[in-house]
Amino acid sequence: MTADEAAATRTDEVATTPDPHDAEAEELARPVDETAEVAVDQVVHAARRDLAAAPTLLEVSDLVKHFAVREVQGLSMFRGVVRAVDGVSFTLRQGETLGLVGESGCGKSTTSRLLTRLEEPTSGAIRFRGTDIAGLKEKALRPMRREVQMIFQDPYSSLNPRQTVGAILQTPLQVHGLAKGREKQRAQELLELVGLNPEHINRYPSEFSGGQRQRIGIARALAVEPQLVIADEPVSALDVSIQAQVMNLLARLRDELGLSFIFIAHDLGVIRHFCDTIAVMYLGKIVEQGPKQRIYTAPQHPYTQALLSAAPDLAVVRGVAPKERIRLQGDPPSPLDPPSGCRFRTRCWKAQDVCATQEPPLVTPSGAAPDQVVACHFPEVRSDLTATVS
Ligand SMILES: Nc1ncnc2c1ncn2[C@@H]1O[C@H](COP(=O)(O)OP(=O)(O)O)[C@@H](O)[C@H]1O
Ligand code: SF4
Ligand SMILES: [Mg+2]
Repeated sequence: MTADEAAATRTDEVATTPDPHDAEAEELARPVDETAEVAVDQVVHAARRDLAAAPTLLEVSDLVKHFAVREVQGLSMFRGVVRAVDGVSFTLRQGETLGLVGESGCGKSTTSRLLTRLEEPTSGAIRFRGTDIAGLKEKALRPMRREVQMIFQDPYSSLNPRQTVGAILQTPLQVHGLAKGREKQRAQELLELVGLNPEHINRYPSEFSGGQRQRIGIARALAVEPQLVIADEPVSALDVSIQAQVMNLLARLRDELGLSFIFIAHDLGVIRHFCDTIAVMYLGKIVEQGPKQRIYTAPQHPYTQALLSAAPDLAVVRGVAPKERIRLQGDPPSPLDPPSGCRFRTRCWKAQDVCATQEPPLVTPSGAAPDQVVACHFPEVRSDLTATVS
């Protein structure tokens, strides 16, 4: 079936099955294109070719977001500070895709909201094309608002249910004065770009399935022709078979449009074919960062090793028996009261006294490539957890 035929099929599905659950069932029933997995890898390789020479697009230095919280507890008032993001630094080059990975609550969404300036940082710098946007006021932020766009996790809540798809796509065009006089046509082009039927422009989000709604969210992000797209767990609310389709769509669009990407995920499985670089976050900090190949085949931080070991769908090359898998005990500690020294120490099987008193700096361990950095007093390569990556 060609793409056009597939789009036409979708048209019929939606037209005859306005119930989103039925539409979802139809979408689920459609076979996943096996060759598309390969296509993602090829796209990644194409995108990586010139990366080393690419200019810096985004430079984040010591980014901090603390939330002051108050809560009535019995007869007293509890006051505290949530250290949601606590000193995050990284660089993103033009055309690069960075994967930001960590358990729920480690500060990924807050980081994305800081980078898009939906939140104001407590401190730190966010240099986008050399301009620090961390403290800019709304008017000065306007050009950047067009160049940096977000795709949200939940396709159900991120679209206004009272607006038609046409209105959803035309609003950002109007806000930024784009495609003047041909907004409707542009909205239809955008629907086509993301594999939806342009004739569905007058339908409401509730008339689409989950995967289709996420396609609308992608079209909305791309409407203003951004340079950088920040996708916050864009497929984790979708069924697994639909996840692959949406990931392939994102990879194709990234390549065609020359986008830079920050892709947020809570495990290392979903992003293995998609990213150039991986940054692993734990309790508000990056604990390991490096080229994808190094993170998946020679992780050095115990937390990265645990994440890699736990990823449900990674093809483990050297066959680690389930009983040998690293199982993290308990939940992460609260960012209201993070552990002293290394924040991972309360769950780390290698912790020693120094881990409680000295915070490990994020540095290149001896023998590692200079672009791999690890925040651990006792870094050590684990190659028995290696996973297949392209
Ligand atoms: N507006 C807020 N006020 C107080 N705490 C917040 C706020 N937003 C996020 N947090 C807290 O900050 C921490 C990081 O949250 P978040 O960035 O959403 O993590 P993730 O996206 O990795 O799951 C969590 O403990 C969360 O409860
Ligand atoms: S610094 Fe210590 S506690 Fe932290 S990850 Fe390394 S060994 Fe574990
Ligand atoms: Mg989140």
